[in-house]
Amino acid sequence: MLTRIGNYWVFVACLLSTSCLSCYWYYSSTRSHSVSSITNVLPDVASSCCSFPQAPSIFSPDAKFLSYLPHSGLHNQRIALENALILGKLTNRTVLVPPLRLGSNPIRYVSSDKLQIILALAEKTGLRHCPKLRSSFIPPECLDQDSFTHVSPAWLFNLSSWDVIYLDKLSPSAMNLDTTDILDFHDTHPYQYRFLDTNRDLATLKHKYDEVVYIPDLANSSHKLLQLGSLFGSSRLRLRLKENKRIRTKVRRSMAFASPELLAVASDIHKSMGGYYFGAHIRVGDGEFQEKRDQTIQQVHQKLTNELLERNTTWQHSSRCHGPALYISTDVPNAATDPLFATLRQSFPCTYFLSDFAAHHLAGMRNTYDGLAMWPFLVPLVDAMVVGRAEVVVGTENSTFSQFIEDVLWRVHRGLGIAERG
Ligand SMILES: *[C@@H]1O[C@H](CO)[C@@H](O)[C@H](O)[C@H]1NC(C)=O
Ligand SMILES: *[C@@H]1O[C@H](CO)[C@@H](O)[C@H](O)[C@H]1NC(C)=O
Ligand SMILES: *[C@@H]1O[C@H](CO)[C@@H](O)[C@H](O)[C@H]1NC(C)=O
Ligand SMILES: *[C@@H]1O[C@H](CO)[C@@H](O)[C@H](O)[C@H]1NC(C)=O
Ligand SMILES: *[C@@H]1O[C@H](CO)[C@@H](O)[C@H](O)[C@H]1NC(C)=O
Repeated sequence: MLTRIGNYWVFVACLLSTSCLSCYWYYSSTRSHSVSSITNVLPDVASSCCSFPQAPSIFSPDAKFLSYLPHSGLHNQRIALENALILGKLTNRTVLVPPLRLGSNPIRYVSSDKLQIILALAEKTGLRHCPKLRSSFIPPECLDQDSFTHVSPAWLFNLSSWDVIYLDKLSPSAMNLDTTDILDFHDTHPYQYRFLDTNRDLATLKHKYDEVVYIPDLANSSHKLLQLGSLFGSSRLRLRLKENKRIRTKVRRSMAFASPELLAVASDIHKSMGGYYFGAHIRVGDGEFQEKRDQTIQQVHQKLTNELLERNTTWQHSSRCHGPALYISTDVPNAATDPLFATLRQSFPCTYFLSDFAAHHLAGMRNTYDGLAMWPFLVPLVDAMVVGRAEVVVGTENSTFSQFIEDVLWRVHRGLGIAERG
């Protein structure tokens, strides 16, 4: 007998017809650099992307699921996904994976009950009229619709090794299950539950998380759905067993961005810089990072020049650069003209930013979900991937995104083992 799970899996067939753009790769020549200007014609890439694969609507009766509620910026959503995949594997459950929300106004954490409602309302289904409005009155449901979009994790990652179902909605609320089928771990604050694989682990007593959940207990549960709340936080899972750490390493390995379109762009930029450059991820745009911006720049500069000294061999590619080119990924707007980077430019005359690589062939790509142009949403991803292909990567202290670039993107690109932290 097969179980049918309601109209939960009703997928929006979002088929926007998109014109195929012929796109040109144009390497900006507005500043002097060692690589002569190149204009390469690249093969067309798909001009639409990121849609949600059709999920099966029929499951075997003993299938069990794990759901969680995504929130915050892309990187926190990614960490939550990572944690969910590990827990899914350790409890032998299929993970219900929501879309990723990209953009400048993330959904911030609130308690699970409220978050579930907010996530359900954060869909654009039924808002197709918004881009067509001509009046100066903008109905409330249409405000801010251009500032975010959803992409399927199936587009961004290769999760083929994991047991997942991709949802077409952020909120898994509509699953038609009896409450007795659900084991509920909804939370009222972000650091409520921490998951341990070892029962008597004293190190966890003094930790920011309030309650501990023993993973083997979860694995033993007969409930059809294990319903979790927030899973963000890189210390949410505390794994002590070797086998479990091995699973975590494997999950982290599959967190390297795998979208063919993004890989192609990152690879082209990598080649344009001669295939050999230093990379820096400099986060100075918000909060504490902004306060410490000068200190961060100084640290990055110091680390880069140390690396330079260690590699004082002849520079094959660019003697005019007095060393390797430097690629900087940053959250500073108009970084290419910002004096903040003056000292770095002095030491690395051939310094590049993503904006130096104009008119990339992703420019015409639109999201089938809402028809929005994807490039503005993809900038931080491509930026990170280009840094991940550098010979040497230097990041911003305390930035988990820097850590991700160094520990995952860079290492996976070089075929190295994943660095384990936490
Ligand atoms: C995992 O779940 C599947 C059903 O989804 C079941 O057939 C299998 O026996 C389970 N494995 C373990 C180790 O519990
Ligand atoms: C995805 O990962 C699997 C397993 O690691 C691999 O066999 C497969 O080739 C990958 N698919 C793509 C499109 O890279
Ligand atoms: C799992 O359940 C079985 C039977 O209900 C019980 O004997 C066993 O102790 C449980 N294991 C854990 C880790 O709770
Ligand atoms: C590179 O460094 C080594 C040791 O640090 C030094 O012996 C060598 O002379 C240096 N080479 C150049 C070209 O500066
Ligand atoms: C990084 O975090 C540590 C511990 O939270 C703190 O002491 C340090 O000042 C932070 N450094 C920067 C540059 O923010």
